Amino acid sequence: MSASDPNDSTHSDYDEKVSVVSEHAAAAAREKPDPKVGNEPVSLWGFLVAGIAVFVGAGYLGATNGGYSNDGFTFVEDYTVKEAPSSGPKEVLPPFAKWVKEGKNHYSAICAACHQTSGIGQAGLYPPLANSEYVYEGSERLAMTILNGMQGPITVAGKSYNSVMTPWKDALSDKKMAQLMTYIRTSWGNDKLLKEGDNGIVTEEMVKKARATHDIPGLKVSDLEGFNKNLEGPKIDPETMEPMAAE
Ligand code: HEC
Repeated sequence: MSASDPNDSTHSDYDEKVSVVSEHAAAAAREKPDPKVGNEPVSLWGFLVAGIAVFVGAGYLGATNGGYSNDGFTFVEDYTVKEAPSSGPKEVLPPFAKWVKEGKNHYSAICAACHQTSGIGQAGLYPPLANSEYVYEGSERLAMTILNGMQGPITVAGKSYNSVMTPWKDALSDKKMAQLMTYIRTSWGNDKLLKEGDNGIVTEEMVKKARATHDIPGLKVSDLEGFNKNLEGPKIDPETMEPMAAE
């Protein structure tokens, strides 16, 4: 086979010294593959046009509120906002009822666990507050009992108990204790057993004084002997919960 034989595969075309395939391999490798039909990249012009549209549109909305204006509303005379259905009509309690209601909340939170919601106590364990002479006899002994707690034998409404109640003086503010005492003195039939002229109302000021003068740690029933008056303070008008003018 001669060097000029065109079928000789070792012979470079036109006598080139290097192979075209190896010489251009790097350039060929840099080429992106041909896109498949339907998968061609989106033209950058498309992005540019869309970007301009967004920019101009946003500018227009910003400048004109998008055509929104307050002027188009019709003003309705006497329109009132309706309460949310679940809240119901707002309850406005008279001052005394409000005071007692607060007291009931404190009672439920602290005392009802033992003396029960109905004030009847629990046989052999917790004496009743309903029809109890330690409740209706005078607010003084009731305050002493709640502030100091109580221990030792006690007979309430003909039944005997002998246990311990911890003091509550740190658990209750003057106001809360006044509300609580008013509640239990005017509930469960105690209101009917109050002395003539006693409406059962206890004020914050009364509790404040009781704290100052009736601190008896480890109080026993015998310590209550002779304390059957009401705590000192002006008589309160249940209508207004304000002190009544002296007669
Ligand atoms: C953990 C249970 C318990 C709780 C809570 C409790 N007590 Fe008592 N309470 C007793 C016991 C027990 C006695 C009787 C103590 C004794 O045997 O000397 C008593 C006695 C009393 C008495 C005197 C006796 C009577 O029945 O009238 C009063 C008044 C009283 N408690 C009021 C209250 C009030 C008000 C509260 C809430 C601030 C309260 N107690 C919370 C257990 C409790």
